Amino acid sequence: MSTVEELKPVPVVLGGTRGGPKVRTLRPKGWGTEKWVTFSILTAFVVYTTWAAIQGADFYVGAAQHRDLISPFYSPCITQTCVSGGGGGLVLHWWTVSPALLILLVPAGFRLTCYYYRKAYYRSFWQSPPACAVADGHARYTGETRFPLIVQNIHRYFWYLALIFNVILTIDAIMAYRMPGAGGIGVSVGSLVLTANAILLWLYSLSCHFCRHACGGHVNTFSEHKLRHRLWELVTPLNARHMQFAWASLIMVALTDGYVRLVASHIISDPKLF
Ligand code: FES
Repeated sequence: MSTVEELKPVPVVLGGTRGGPKVRTLRPKGWGTEKWVTFSILTAFVVYTTWAAIQGADFYVGAAQHRDLISPFYSPCITQTCVSGGGGGLVLHWWTVSPALLILLVPAGFRLTCYYYRKAYYRSFWQSPPACAVADGHARYTGETRFPLIVQNIHRYFWYLALIFNVILTIDAIMAYRMPGAGGIGVSVGSLVLTANAILLWLYSLSCHFCRHACGGHVNTFSEHKLRHRLWELVTPLNARHMQFAWASLIMVALTDGYVRLVASHIISDPKLF
């Protein structure tokens, strides 16, 4: 059996930063499909979210429609521009434009610095590199060890903030079962939508690579840290599906805003199931 040392190096030459002149890729045809799908979905999400965030309206379905549904883009609603009933205890009076422009800084920062999304947008937007065994789209490769990309290291702090947001959105999902003036409590499509959104956001956060590190990192002997070992065992299977949770939660959060928006603007009604 060969050891790594005995294996002869394979002479691979790619164009771009990591190699010589002409060869662009060693991959078979069709390797770029994933890149374009990623590019399209992320672009669509950014366009929709930007549009929804600057609207500053139709983000809350209140007692007049016998519901208590708030868009995740506008929660926690902490500015005076929030609608009555959609706000929390803390109100920032100096913020006079759409509250989503402030609120979304945390989830946007969390996703932008996510290890998985970094891979996704480095490949699909920056072409650096476009994929494994494909030449870089740039002449120089500087990595993440210097400014500005070294800032990506703040991901761990965004994770803590994201947990706070998850708690708030979970409370929103529970409140979505309130039906003021229509029996007091019940289940509607909207309550299920907000619940599914909260669950997916928890799965996304708990499958985070930093979460796994926070649970089991810096531990030399798991036998001496039984609780951390148990937590690490719980989040590791989630971590293996982080990419799937990243996409599912991204799409769901946009769908949830869209659903609340359609109900709030009276384009559709929110059917009560029971
Ligand atoms: S690595 Fe993706 S959320 Fe932390």
